Amino acid sequence: MEKRAEKRRIVLVPFPAQGHVTPFMQLGQALIQKGFSITVVQGELNRVTHIPGFLFVTIQESLPVSQLKTLGPVEFLTKLNKTIEASFKDCISQLLQQHDNDVACIIYDELMYFSEAAAKEFKLPSVIFSTVSATSRVCGCVLSKLNAEKFLIDMEVQDKVVDDLHPLTYKDLPTSGMGPLDRYLELCREIFNRGTASGIIINTASCLESSSLSWLQQELGIPVYPLGPLHITVSTNPSLLEEDMSCIEWLNKHNPRSVIYISFGSKAHMEAKEVMEMAWGLRDSNQPFLWVVSESLPEEVSKIVSEKGYIVKWAPQNQVLAHPAVGGFWSHCGWNSTLESIVEGVPMICRPFGDEQKLNAKYIESVWRIGIRLEGEVERGQVKRMVKRLIMDDEGAEMRDRSIGFKEKLKASVRVGGSSYNALDELVKFLET
Ligand code: UDX
Repeated sequence: MEKRAEKRRIVLVPFPAQGHVTPFMQLGQALIQKGFSITVVQGELNRVTHIPGFLFVTIQESLPVSQLKTLGPVEFLTKLNKTIEASFKDCISQLLQQHDNDVACIIYDELMYFSEAAAKEFKLPSVIFSTVSATSRVCGCVLSKLNAEKFLIDMEVQDKVVDDLHPLTYKDLPTSGMGPLDRYLELCREIFNRGTASGIIINTASCLESSSLSWLQQELGIPVYPLGPLHITVSTNPSLLEEDMSCIEWLNKHNPRSVIYISFGSKAHMEAKEVMEMAWGLRDSNQPFLWVVSESLPEEVSKIVSEKGYIVKWAPQNQVLAHPAVGGFWSHCGWNSTLESIVEGVPMICRPFGDEQKLNAKYIESVWRIGIRLEGEVERGQVKRMVKRLIMDDEGAEMRDRSIGFKEKLKASVRVGGSSYNALDELVKFLET
């Protein structure tokens, strides 16, 4: 391939939510280490303001992310992508002027697909960053090829496996909570059927998802770069909320592998009854627990919790998971939390809420076998039993051993010559040509 004049600036376009911003900033950091300059284009809300070496450009938010809840994901994303396209083009035009045309590539979150129009207009290469698992990306591609009628027929065929991708079935394709099926499938076509980007980055590693990665490589016909988990490669941890470090002191007082850590990420919301059952079940388990809850709890719950538990609004999650006192992670199974837990060899209780979390839970429980799923309504007796299985029983110890096995493999994959290390190298080569 003919070499372009050396261009070192990469424009990153993250989706403004913690689970997306974090891997984006980590990717930026990894590219800075390879000698690139980074400009992050973001809206006015949920933005990161300072990371050494990064330039931040703010564009006016045409549709604040706070409207995600009101409009629902499909309407929100469709509207966002329509309304922001023009201001993003202006922004890229200004960047090109300011930096003497020095832009090597636009790397955008797959949800921010408006970026593609600017890349095309200014003849810039573009690469997609899919911040979820490779299997979720597979699901997106499968959904984008279905019409609502076909999907419902395939759903009826109990547990029909998707395109030889055992154990992925049609029932696992994440569709719940997305609104009307036909509108959702239309959005999937917008996002996953574009075919104009030059490659796709995924924050995963081949030891976790080799068959999904091979499927994507064949299906998409563009390079797939599985270069994760990024948080092992770099130290950047761009928290949008203030981390309460007091929980580390609290953890210091507990025995190795005795504490259950509970966090449901940045978006999940729990009903009052569920919170109450959790509190009782955790107390009855008699194990110490560290619980991330952003809303204030009713006095009755705080009282139950205070005996054995510690509550914070936002924790330094990676430090918590790496702490020797932590014996298990009760999680909503967001992709970042899943990777972070595996990287520390911590077994999980899975309680997925929405998005693709059920899918991640399935892989945690049935494929990697490093966690157990809490199904149905949360009830105190069941909570107590799950905590015991994870922390005290042999079953939990076996899951921990398997998780530690993956931890070693993941660490090897980012070392020189490892699969993720090589994928990052391939990406760098593409960005340099
Ligand atoms: C969203 C979607 O909900 C999820 O399904 C998708 O996989 C990724 O995008 P989110 O729900 O926020 O993400 O969960 P997750 O992916 O787990 O990301 C949460 C991030 O917040 C993690 O990096 C975690 O370390 C961090 N976190 C969470 C903290 O730093 N402190 C906390 O107290 C809780």
